[in-house]
Amino acid sequence: MPNTLLIYHGIYGHTRRICEVIQAEMIRLGVSTDISRLDNCEADDLERFDAIVIGAAIRNGKHNSAVLEFIRTRRDLLESKPSGFFSVNLVARKPEKNTPETNPYVKAFLARSPWQPKLVGVFAGNLDYQRYRFMDRHIIRFIMTLTGGPTDLHTKIEFTDWDRVREFAGQVTALTADAAGS
Ligand SMILES: Cc1cc2nc3c(=O)[nH]c(=O)nc-3n(C[C@H](O)[C@H](O)[C@H](O)COP(=O)(O)O)c2cc1C
Repeated sequence: MPNTLLIYHGIYGHTRRICEVIQAEMIRLGVSTDISRLDNCEADDLERFDAIVIGAAIRNGKHNSAVLEFIRTRRDLLESKPSGFFSVNLVARKPEKNTPETNPYVKAFLARSPWQPKLVGVFAGNLDYQRYRFMDRHIIRFIMTLTGGPTDLHTKIEFTDWDRVREFAGQVTALTADAAGS
């Protein structure tokens, strides 16, 4: 059975949840799928996977620098396999900014990344003020003010379109199956 690794970087658990939904869909489609936090990934361990996907959340306008660092040090390996990338952010809640071609964070990522993944996705994230640490709550509220989003501190909205996440999982499955020759 082909085997895929989903690597994620996030703070409050939503990027991991997206990975879990991708994993469930891929397993349903017949692809064995593991999930790992980016900072737990061992270089040697990556070799055994047929495909690799990296998912990262946006915080204060950027993906964490550890994501690009990870990519830079493993570029050859990532390029030797079918690979995908997805970004999670709240700007993607806006229909005109929810594709890889229109999302500013994905565009900035692709411009800076030495690795160009075969598959790219972007998903709207989660807004749950009560879950955040004090400073984070006020930072994200400021961002919401600037971008015309909800500012009520009791707002709890999951903007993620789960059908699109499952569709992405189907695309990763197709890539993985091709690579494994099944
Ligand atoms: C402190 C903080 C800063 C954020 N900054 C941005 C931002 O600049 N732009 C954006 O689109 N989303 C921003 N977000 C939204 C996150 O990308 C979104 O909530 C995502 O679901 C978080 O994923 P995680 O739970 O895996 O950390 C921010 C969220 C937090 C908590």
